[in-house]
Amino acid sequence: MTQHTFSFSFQILDFEELMPHDKNLIEEARKATKRAYAPYSQYQVGAALLLENGTIVTGNNQENAAYPSGLCAERTAFFWAKSQFPDLKILTAAVSAKPSGEENFVGVTPCGGCRQVMLEYEIAQNQAIRLVLEGENGKVKLIEKVSYLLPLCFSNKNL
Ligand code: THU
Repeated sequence: MTQHTFSFSFQILDFEELMPHDKNLIEEARKATKRAYAPYSQYQVGAALLLENGTIVTGNNQENAAYPSGLCAERTAFFWAKSQFPDLKILTAAVSAKPSGEENFVGVTPCGGCRQVMLEYEIAQNQAIRLVLEGENGKVKLIEKVSYLLPLCFSNKNL
């Protein structure tokens, strides 16, 4: 038997401690929450991606009466970005969330399906995608690469 352990470090910062481009990106993600279509969960999620040419692409969750047909904010943003700018690397992805009808943002971390999708593009572009995630009480989590969130992942290397 061999024992294996995964660990990774990430930072929790006050909003004011963020670098200006991360601050801007989380603000864009927060704005995007307000355009979410989330009549079923009442949980509005926004994502904002910084591309290597400085373009910012945003997305939000889009729900559906046939529940599984809806899509998370992260995948909406990533698929939109890669459908419009297939050759541009994604440098950073910010994600924020809030309950509908409320002004305060709440902590959010991407679901497993979104981690898998983000990882696909991180591997394809051969460069880390940084994550800036809305945390609790106005704090923000900084994670240096998507792959930290998906140990023992399935990828094209398995095929
Ligand atoms: N959701 C996202 O958009 N991103 C996440 O990281 C977590 C969950 C959405 C899916 C659904 O519309 C709602 O939030 C409740 O799960």
